[in-house]
Amino acid sequence: MKVCVIGAGPSGITALKNLIDQGLDVVCYDFNTDVGGNWIYNENLSHSSVFETTHIISSKTLSQYEDFTFDEFEAGLPDYPSHYQLRRYFQAYAAKFNLYPHIQFSTLVQSCELDKSAQWLIKTIQDGKETTETFSHLVVCNGHHWKPRLPNYPGNFTGKFMHSHEFKQAKPFEDQRILVIGGGNSACDVAVETSRVSRKTSISWRRGYRIVPKFLFGKPSDVVASRFAFLPTGLKFFLSELSVKIFSGSNNNYGLPEPEHAITGTHPTINEELLYKIRHGKVFPKSDIERFEGNQVHFSDGSVEEFDTIIACTGYILEHPFFRKDFLNYSEGEVPLYLKMLHETYENLFFVGMFQPLGCIWPAAELQSKIAARAIKGLWKRPHNIAELCRREVTHPHLNQIKTPRHTITVDFHLFIKQLKKHLPKNYVSKSPL
Ligand SMILES: Cc1cc2nc3c(=O)[nH]c(=O)nc-3n(C[C@H](O)[C@H](O)[C@H](O)COP(=O)(O)OP(=O)(O)OC[C@H]3O[C@@H](n4cnc5c(N)ncnc54)[C@H](O)[C@@H]3O)c2cc1C
Ligand SMILES: NC(=O)c1ccc[n+]([C@@H]2O[C@H](COP(=O)([O-])OP(=O)(O)OC[C@H]3O[C@@H](n4cnc5c(N)ncnc54)[C@H](OP(=O)(O)O)[C@@H]3O)[C@@H](O)[C@H]2O)c1
Repeated sequence: MKVCVIGAGPSGITALKNLIDQGLDVVCYDFNTDVGGNWIYNENLSHSSVFETTHIISSKTLSQYEDFTFDEFEAGLPDYPSHYQLRRYFQAYAAKFNLYPHIQFSTLVQSCELDKSAQWLIKTIQDGKETTETFSHLVVCNGHHWKPRLPNYPGNFTGKFMHSHEFKQAKPFEDQRILVIGGGNSACDVAVETSRVSRKTSISWRRGYRIVPKFLFGKPSDVVASRFAFLPTGLKFFLSELSVKIFSGSNNNYGLPEPEHAITGTHPTINEELLYKIRHGKVFPKSDIERFEGNQVHFSDGSVEEFDTIIACTGYILEHPFFRKDFLNYSEGEVPLYLKMLHETYENLFFVGMFQPLGCIWPAAELQSKIAARAIKGLWKRPHNIAELCRREVTHPHLNQIKTPRHTITVDFHLFIKQLKKHLPKNYVSKSPL
């Protein structure tokens, strides 16, 4: 058996570590030059979509690998580490578990195809040299926040139009009139950052969102919410919504539309500064966009304003460019995978980290990796009714969310962790390098 892992981001390194733990022969490919994936900030356009000022939105307590906790990494980290601290954490994980010798950097996986005997033919390119290798199993960890999803409006905008994936620093937007589109975490972060230097920053929302502060009652909000984790789903989210409403008041106080969905109806937007900036006259709320005309934007409330730059923070497309589209395509619509990981037909294909939790990705990616490694080793058996279970993930999602493209792979963090742990033995934590 020989296993191929695509990607050495937070998901790829834990996949690699756990496959090695099972004594498997593994090769990991990454086109970057170090581990860390999205958390390797770069001033230039790259795989990473983080900004100069990005800090994680889930607290360190709920954002660590069990095999290598933040306390084992470094004392004194803040509640919400920066992208640089996280990158160092991932690199320390890779060093601690001797993962580097198994990773081929600067290597792009171009295509993955199954041959007649159901082996994977993986074609890579490194320094212009193409190579094809055969593997018995494939673990996909290529990330899902790197391919911009661009909005389409009638008319032409003659100013600069860009996506948040290209946004790195606020400085280039000094003295400009900026319009940010979106109500997710990128939009709110970008609006706050540009407002520090711009002539004027506006933010356009196509619906209302409840903005969750990073701290409630002096504690990280996810730590507070996790105290309700044992409650039935409806009640626990009712209490979360109530706490946030009491803390920040109604959106009308800020000139923002009230959400028409429950707090869990969209991926949570966690931001400590947006509401503050609005009430300090630094960020101006706008309604949805109707059309463009030159450097003017016509909004759905009838107002018209001129802008120099529009930054569309409209999310990312789930993309696997190394698969033929007629083989597998999750860029639109349903993603019917059991445990967000297993395909009903291809037993030697695994996805790790391809879910959107209300919380952090890599603690659950770590557990998925342990299950995948045990499955490959023959220590865990695929359920016989896997097709039915895959379908059930689509028909019975953890949360009832609005039907927009970003909501096809959502999981409730605590529920998903609990679900995954049911497939693992009690002693699943393994802290020592082999
Ligand atoms: C601005 C921003 C902030 C975020 N903040 C948070 C947060 O606070 N908490 C959170 O949990 N998540 C956050 N995320 C989501 C983020 O995607 C995850 O934190 C995490 O990076 C996912 O890890 P991953 O390994 O699955 O993917 P990635 O980090 O994207 O890593 C994928 C790796 O695969 C490699 N790769 C991809 N395709 C190929 C190929 N064809 N060949 C070879 N190598 C390839 C890439 O080089 C990369 O190293 C944020 C995302 C963004 C955009
Ligand atoms: N750590 C951090 O500080 C941080 C910072 C940024 C991002 N992130 C993470 O990165 C991931 C991506 O976040 P993101 O904010 O980039 O994307 P996102 O969560 O997909 O949000 C996209 C936003 O754009 C809106 N939108 C999409 N298409 C639109 C259109 N055509 N017209 C108008 N609005 C449109 C969406 O509206 P709907 O609500 O209608 O879908 C949503 O409000 C998330 O996991 C997020 O948590 C974290």
